Amino acid sequence: MDRRSFMLASAATVFAGTRAEAQMETMDGMSGMSDMHAGHGAMAMPANAPSLPEGAPLRELSRLSNRSNEAGLLEATLTAEPATAQFAEGLDTPVLAFNGDSPAPLIEATEGDRIRITFANRIPGEISTIHWHGMPVPADQDGNPMDPVSSGTDRLYSFDLPEGSAGSYWYHPHPHGKTAEQVYRGLAGAFLVKPKVDPIPAAYGDTELFFTDLRLAADGTMPANTMVDVMNGRVGDHVLVNGQKNPVLSVPAGTQRRFRLFNATNARFLRLSFGDVPMTIVGTDGGLLGAPVPGVQDVLLAPAERLEVIVAFDEPGTTTLGTLDYDRGWMGQGRPKDAGLTLLTVAVSETPAEPPPPLPAILRPIADLGAPSVSRRLVFGETMTMGADGMEMGFLINGKSFDMNRIDFVSKAGELELWEIANPADMDHPFHVHGTQFQIVEYERGGKVNKPPYRAWKDTVNVARGETIRILVRQDKPGPRMYHCHILEHEQLGMMGIVDVQV
Ligand code: C2O
Ligand code: CU
Ligand code: CU
Repeated sequence: MDRRSFMLASAATVFAGTRAEAQMETMDGMSGMSDMHAGHGAMAMPANAPSLPEGAPLRELSRLSNRSNEAGLLEATLTAEPATAQFAEGLDTPVLAFNGDSPAPLIEATEGDRIRITFANRIPGEISTIHWHGMPVPADQDGNPMDPVSSGTDRLYSFDLPEGSAGSYWYHPHPHGKTAEQVYRGLAGAFLVKPKVDPIPAAYGDTELFFTDLRLAADGTMPANTMVDVMNGRVGDHVLVNGQKNPVLSVPAGTQRRFRLFNATNARFLRLSFGDVPMTIVGTDGGLLGAPVPGVQDVLLAPAERLEVIVAFDEPGTTTLGTLDYDRGWMGQGRPKDAGLTLLTVAVSETPAEPPPPLPAILRPIADLGAPSVSRRLVFGETMTMGADGMEMGFLINGKSFDMNRIDFVSKAGELELWEIANPADMDHPFHVHGTQFQIVEYERGGKVNKPPYRAWKDTVNVARGETIRILVRQDKPGPRMYHCHILEHEQLGMMGIVDVQV
């Protein structure tokens, strides 16, 4: 969709629903843009917004079943289709689901496995794809916008999981102009790749917390994106964990629990804390760290990022996983409340757990990538212009809006590159690149350079406003790869480019 048609479509949308009208009221004065950055008051939910039940036992994500009996082969079908969910009591919410489930089924595989997943697009009238976020899959199997799957057709995604690829990945559609909407309507799931031997003790469990964001109108439907959503990325009214609002996890006292945190929201920055109970970080997007990082009180999980943490629940009683304030730069009025959301309640019983084995001091080696032979600079930009149809927002990288038919630059497979990603704009933008895992070298802000606290594999990193981040990137497989802001509305409005990797 070009920007002009986006304007028209969003104008149509904006007048479509009561919530949208309420949104428009809060945006009064928008035409004179003088107060674009003025409104930082917490947005109250509309009076008639449905409330969601809380406190049910935490559900495990459903699992994608493997129809192959052959060792090392995962063969399955993922059907994307309309479904109905009950988030609020007595209200049906039309969603999109994979195999009837939203969040989508968890896919679990092991390093060395071969994956053959048939994607059946049964979304009426819409193209789609499945993108394997963060995974080292060949470019032509990665669900790029250049390879759409038409409604009513199937395609096979086939790839191998190399040694060393264990990590906490996820999958979601990536069709041109439709990604944001298909994801918030429900199409996203976790993809775990396990190592052959896991250094984290099995007694710690493996609990996936898959965060999504939901907004419901009074009739239970999901309202379309408003102008505020398009500018900031869609932020809902409820942050859900495995599709539930504030569920309860019960554990015995003395439990050590492994959590995998997935931020599958379109645009919610989650600064997470278990209150007084510290976390030990053991993994990032691309798998385990070299060594555990203990004593962490809070973590920022930007859209699309993942983390693995270990939490010790020693004291009987109740502990909650909640959010703290994080100002990611908000355009216009109605900044949603970031702090004080309770995402999960952990009920710690008096009955003591079997004493768990200790966490090993070393988890796995993380390669030193050495010195880069190429360097590049990518600069995020936001533009706002008054057009004939009203205000137009542009989201750019190096001054350009995404064009599927343009290669932005060419890289050589196997060559190490230093990418400098600068964000002189007014909002944070989480940067993501397809097909590989990178390492952060340093963060620069106000002339001060900081090194990351640990070496890690990442595929998404938040570039805060005013910040420049340097990363080491190597693409090993040829083909076109996308890089973009993972606020999906920004990606959709042009904050994306293509690197063509050549042999
Ligand atoms: Cu989550 Cu282009 O990706
Ligand atoms: Cu991706
Ligand atoms: Cu962005």
